[in-house]
Amino acid sequence: MPAGSVVEAAAAPAVSTKKATRPDRSGEPLLQVENLGKHFPVTAGLLRRQVAAVKAVDGVSFSVHKGETLGLVGESGCGKTTTGRMIMRLLDSSFGRITFEGQDITKLSQQKMRPLRRDLQMIFQDPYSSLNPRQTVGSIVGAPFRLQKLQTESGVKKAVQDLLELVGLNPEHYNRYPHEFSGGQRQRIGIARTLALKPRLIVADEPVSALDVSIQAQVVNLLEDLQDELDLTYVVIAHDLSVVRHISDRIAVMYLGKIVEISDGHDLYAAPMHPYTNALLSAVPIPDPAGRRGRERIRLQGDVPSPLDPPPACRFHTRCWKAQDICKRIEPPLVELAPGHQTACHFPENAPAGATELVARAAAEQEASAPVAASGGRRHVGKHR
Ligand SMILES: Nc1ncnc2c1ncn2[C@@H]1O[C@H](COP(=O)(O)OP(=O)(O)OP(=O)(O)O)[C@@H](O)[C@H]1O
Ligand code: SF4
Ligand SMILES: [Mg+2]
Repeated sequence: MPAGSVVEAAAAPAVSTKKATRPDRSGEPLLQVENLGKHFPVTAGLLRRQVAAVKAVDGVSFSVHKGETLGLVGESGCGKTTTGRMIMRLLDSSFGRITFEGQDITKLSQQKMRPLRRDLQMIFQDPYSSLNPRQTVGSIVGAPFRLQKLQTESGVKKAVQDLLELVGLNPEHYNRYPHEFSGGQRQRIGIARTLALKPRLIVADEPVSALDVSIQAQVVNLLEDLQDELDLTYVVIAHDLSVVRHISDRIAVMYLGKIVEISDGHDLYAAPMHPYTNALLSAVPIPDPAGRRGRERIRLQGDVPSPLDPPPACRFHTRCWKAQDICKRIEPPLVELAPGHQTACHFPENAPAGATELVARAAAEQEASAPVAASGGRRHVGKHR
């Protein structure tokens, strides 16, 4: 992002309001991600020796319960797609753990992952490039059945036509090619393909950002309807909060490879605690201008720093208007400051009394337990690095 620019506001898709019933979070989560990280090595020279690492994801933890939608939000390059691809096991993690339905899948071989591929599916951002232009819709949506060597009672054709109908497409268009459909319809084809094997968990990576705003709402609403109908669990990735606002039960905000705030979606919108979340929220258009009262547009200064060499301690300190000396020295740990509402900031906003002291105590404990660096000094970072 150019220096001095604002977090861009996108026009908000007019989506329906989130379902009234909340998923039950009391039992074991469907997906549990613990201290997950991906460092891409940077090599140089003839021997391709590693000289640095892109710290794309640097220790994220969250859980998703059955029937729940977790929104994963942050600016471009903060590690959202890398996180999604690690969960899907399309990319090996550098450290951390992924548990799906109680099973540790972090290091499962591709062969052992095969039966789980049915349960874990991904929707991709670009409906244009994710569909093979030389294949018919029938062949694209039927591919998962063939790959998994599955027979359906009434045959693959009927199953595909049912899926097309489910996502709001004409089943008669089975023999058409992707170029004969609009962008929104192509994303529906992608969703139909994703649903073919009745997945338990879907990671939707920017499912609507390539679409016109008028079409975005339809696709978001379709995802919600399908969730209710098929009891689906989602991780929805987006770079702006307006897309995930209505669909998400909980929202995790990422900045430079870390989660800086995670909470119930309603609480996050009503009382964001991290300055970065506040900045993202201030860019979300509010249809009723009166509702904007008290929420000034926050202009973030400077570029997002490089994940090759992220700022020490609080990674947001180079752009934060509240930064103080401690923010540059000690990493603020992710602390639960209200029920289910965690934030990583030394000076959280909208926080209950005593929050700063709570953060200071947690930071001191984290510092005390951090491994001692080779130089003999303590690291100013979380224990997961
Ligand atoms: N294969 C790779 N090798 C090296 N660096 C990579 C690789 N894949 C991603 N990165 C880097 O990791 C960081 C996180 O990338 P990622 O695609 O996960 O971000 P993102 O949040 O999905 O961004 P966007 O909103 O633009 O899609 C970026 O700096 C990116 O350049
Ligand atoms: S820890 Fe400091 S720099 Fe980081 S977000 Fe909070 S106030 Fe800003
Ligand atoms: Mg991405």
